[in-house]
Amino acid sequence: MTTDDSHHDDASPDEDRRQSGGAWREPDTRSGGDPVLPDGGTEAEGADEATLDPWGSSTIADYRKLFEQFGIEEFDEVLPEVPNPHYLMRRGVIFGHRDYRPVAEAMRNDDPFAALSGFMPTGDPHIGHKLVFDEIIWHQQQGGDAYALIADLEAHSARGLSWDEIDEHATNYLLSLLALGFDPDEGTLYRQSDNREVQDLAFELGAEANFSELQAIYDFDGETDISHMQSVVTQMADILYPQLDEPKPTVIPVGPDQDPHMRLARDLAARMRYFGVTEAFASFEADGVERTLLRQAYDAREDYAEDADRPRCGEAADWLREHQPAPADARESVVAKLDEAGKEPLRPRIRFLDRNATDEAFEALIEAIDGEKRVYDEHIDTFDLDHAEAEELARQVELDNGGYGFQPPSSIYHRFMTGLTGGKMSSSIPASHISLLDDPEDGYDKVKSATTGGRSTAEEQREKGGKADECPVYELYAYLLSGDDDEFAKEVYDECVGGERLCGGCKEQAAELMEQFLEEHQEKRAEWEDKLAELDIDLDSDRAPTSAD
Ligand code: TRP
Ligand code: SF4
Repeated sequence: MTTDDSHHDDASPDEDRRQSGGAWREPDTRSGGDPVLPDGGTEAEGADEATLDPWGSSTIADYRKLFEQFGIEEFDEVLPEVPNPHYLMRRGVIFGHRDYRPVAEAMRNDDPFAALSGFMPTGDPHIGHKLVFDEIIWHQQQGGDAYALIADLEAHSARGLSWDEIDEHATNYLLSLLALGFDPDEGTLYRQSDNREVQDLAFELGAEANFSELQAIYDFDGETDISHMQSVVTQMADILYPQLDEPKPTVIPVGPDQDPHMRLARDLAARMRYFGVTEAFASFEADGVERTLLRQAYDAREDYAEDADRPRCGEAADWLREHQPAPADARESVVAKLDEAGKEPLRPRIRFLDRNATDEAFEALIEAIDGEKRVYDEHIDTFDLDHAEAEELARQVELDNGGYGFQPPSSIYHRFMTGLTGGKMSSSIPASHISLLDDPEDGYDKVKSATTGGRSTAEEQREKGGKADECPVYELYAYLLSGDDDEFAKEVYDECVGGERLCGGCKEQAAELMEQFLEEHQEKRAEWEDKLAELDIDLDSDRAPTSAD
């Protein structure tokens, strides 16, 4: 194994593999057909209902459902836009995203962007958390503002941990994050309870969300305690915190169980905005589908308008009735609106909607729009701006008038690691995971006694090859032990499925690499231990030892 990444300067081998869907890449092989699951191997109960519960067990029955049901997008689609993608991206461990493009674009253009994630200090940090540490650190190395926070309010309210336990675990998370390469001089570390700006922002965001909404998203009920709800708005504030000084693309690397939080945060970010910017064709309001039909009618104006420079709404209605473009529902409603507008010209425009603006900000926007404009009670139509210019202007006026101007936060999702004993990797089952604090020899032993995707006899393995796709040991190679070395990961995979690699030797090699990794990691942790006191984060909470339950 090498840690030399020079071969990545030559992107073409990776590129080829990506194109051909080379078998060693897990997502390609796994999304192939049968629901062979990365976390547990067998379909969990209720597998056709993908559920995402941030406080439940994090077994995701089938990652494909996340794309279909929740609209998470496949990471592979943005991968070509990411400069120097991290190996977790290249290997499909990071499998999904929401709206990552603005982050990739900022990275390419050297524009400001941020990455933030949070850790609930409920136990020791383990190799699953390392994925998120690595993701934050990598974004920091790509030039992003990096943030890591300790979700102590959440651990106390949702998991009932005492403040003493929280302090101890928090220190352990931070040491591992630092040992893995987080630069605290460039980045920001905080704990939720200690960050006044986050608390203030949480309060403001809480004014935009109500109980019914949290109930629908998180299944909260009358028994849910209020601190738990407060921890939700706190997380919303965490997610938007990097944008407090200025709006910027921000990525939140998390497991897919956190997606409900992301959807709410994206909603709240939009709800806080002063103005909405949409396209319109006449004075009336239209939704997205109706707008598509209006666009078609407008584009066809030469065919029907008495004066093609001044098509009338009524003429467009006749054209739509005659041509019957789909969908029928939207067509009927838009035809009715056009009929009603009658002689009014059909004319494309950019519309600013007043969402959350103060009166002063609305006035300031009117003032700031150059060229032809028409001012209504709740919106302004403009004729000389394109969409991007209008978005920019709306944000600027909002910022100048005291608003946040948030961009919707983006997220990336990684696969959960399979437990070493099969089933899911769980902090509460020590043999299922490798803690970053495990004695290196224990780490060695855990790998040696891990379940594998091997066949029952060596003979059968030579003949049929091992099942690397179902093997927790292979996962260790792909997620951690190969580091940046794609060649090595591929070699293990190919040798395994080709029957040249037998589990005994394979586990021995993995166990040695794990032992070595833990040794090095813990040496670096020890170095940081002395410097921890210098950091700008309080690891000794001065709280009364109440029970959280
Ligand atoms: N809820 C997260 C967890 O359970 C922790 C968390 C708190 C978080 N605030 C966050 C994660 C902000 C991402 C971004 O682990
Ligand atoms: Fe897993 Fe290695 Fe055995 Fe293949 S050879 S099944 S990768 S332990």
